[in-house]
Amino acid sequence: MFHVKSSITLDKYAPVGEIDERIYGSFIEHLGRAVYTGIYQPGHPSADENGFRQDVIDLINKLNVPIIRYPGGNFVSGFNWEDSVGPKDQRPRRLDLAWQTIESNQFGLHEFMQWLGKVHAKPMMAVNLGTRGIDAARNLIEYTNFPKGSYYSDMRRRNGAEQPFNIKTWCLGNEMDGPWQIGHKDAVAYGKLANETAHAMRIVDDSIETVACGSSGLTMPTFGSWEDTVLDLTYDNIDYLSLHRYYGNQDNDTPNFLAQSLDLDAFISGVTAICDAVKARKHSQKTINLSLDEWNVWYHSNNHDAHDEKWQEAPHKLEDIYNFEDALLVGSMLITMLHHADRLKMACLAQLVNVIAPIMTDENGGAWAQSIFYPFMQVSTLGKGTVLTPIVHSETYGTKEFDAVPFVDGVAVLNDAGDTVTVFAVNKSLDTAQDFTIAAGDFDFASVALSTQMAGYGLKETNEDGHMGITPNTTARLAEDGVHVTLAPASWNTFQIKVN
Ligand code: AHR
Repeated sequence: MFHVKSSITLDKYAPVGEIDERIYGSFIEHLGRAVYTGIYQPGHPSADENGFRQDVIDLINKLNVPIIRYPGGNFVSGFNWEDSVGPKDQRPRRLDLAWQTIESNQFGLHEFMQWLGKVHAKPMMAVNLGTRGIDAARNLIEYTNFPKGSYYSDMRRRNGAEQPFNIKTWCLGNEMDGPWQIGHKDAVAYGKLANETAHAMRIVDDSIETVACGSSGLTMPTFGSWEDTVLDLTYDNIDYLSLHRYYGNQDNDTPNFLAQSLDLDAFISGVTAICDAVKARKHSQKTINLSLDEWNVWYHSNNHDAHDEKWQEAPHKLEDIYNFEDALLVGSMLITMLHHADRLKMACLAQLVNVIAPIMTDENGGAWAQSIFYPFMQVSTLGKGTVLTPIVHSETYGTKEFDAVPFVDGVAVLNDAGDTVTVFAVNKSLDTAQDFTIAAGDFDFASVALSTQMAGYGLKETNEDGHMGITPNTTARLAEDGVHVTLAPASWNTFQIKVN
């Protein structure tokens, strides 16, 4: 096999930033089968006494997801939170205008909080700034976070939760820049509403943190000016600005598809620059960080969904079946996110179960892991500590959108104990292996503790039968200057090196 050389050089004195593990978050929306027949299916053989599917809980626990965004997404912009609490037999069936389905409200706020305990995650709760606003949001936070002795806190107690939920992280609406959004607004209208909503919510609980909507994608016509105006109007009442980004390989141009991590990199850098420009203009001491609270590959299900029958309950929607090249791009996006560990503090793989998700369920059978599950699981479990400035040398290739795409994407993370360096790397070359060096720099390498790969699959191969996974890469050897290892063509790779 033809080989070329590439490397990552470690510099222990040049940290990018400490990883906030909330970048390994995910998302459950009332959409399709994410909730019903996804995480919640009373009567399923694996369901517990609450109707929570244990097979799904087990897979989520393997993914190690610390924070989960809820209940939408587009859904939240028409959602009345009051519908989702209280006795289940009194909860209304509603039209969900966003996805044109029927919402039964049999799974709601209390069920979500209870379920979160089983998957060891914290909530990232979104409020409705589409059809509703300040009043509903201040009532909701009184319900969730106020201890007792008021109308909504006592309603929560009567509904079975004596202690407040103490939800810390709040999204101020969803994708309000998108014309598809119920209650879509221009930047000034949204900025004023988000600011006043956050202000009122903070009066109820000043320990919360809030996320304002940024752009729903880099290609939105309002990108840039939206961020600038919203930040200008909300600066003192928000902590994070959101970004959303999905990619697809509609043209079946895999080299260009795998290069989309460069687009994500430009998106994150651009939004960071705008945040800092507004900070400078305001002479502010406060830094706004980023929340990439929707990201993934999304396109496989588009055709199917265009012909969906309307007003069904829990229909099969957005059920992308992911292939191997999707897993490579997801790995590359994770590496890109780590490169921005200094400013990217939260992120949500969208979504978690059945809807553009790493985990799928059969309503009459089991649950299974998609191809993208594996790179995500490795990064979320092993990518902890401080990201080192990535000095990656690799040959490049050109595509219709990008002039110079490095074949190898890589990142190195030093753990908090200072005794282990973890390297994640993707080889995007479809036909050429890489003679890859992890150059020790100022580190004294002691041993290779882990050397694995996800490789050898066809680009369009999927994992319904569960044959995919992480396998050992037996080529790694320790030398004077570092670790030398072969990266297979089209591969996802993880290494852990013990350092003295
Ligand atoms: O994740 C699916 C949808 O994508 C979300 O509801 C919306 O916010 C985005 O457009």
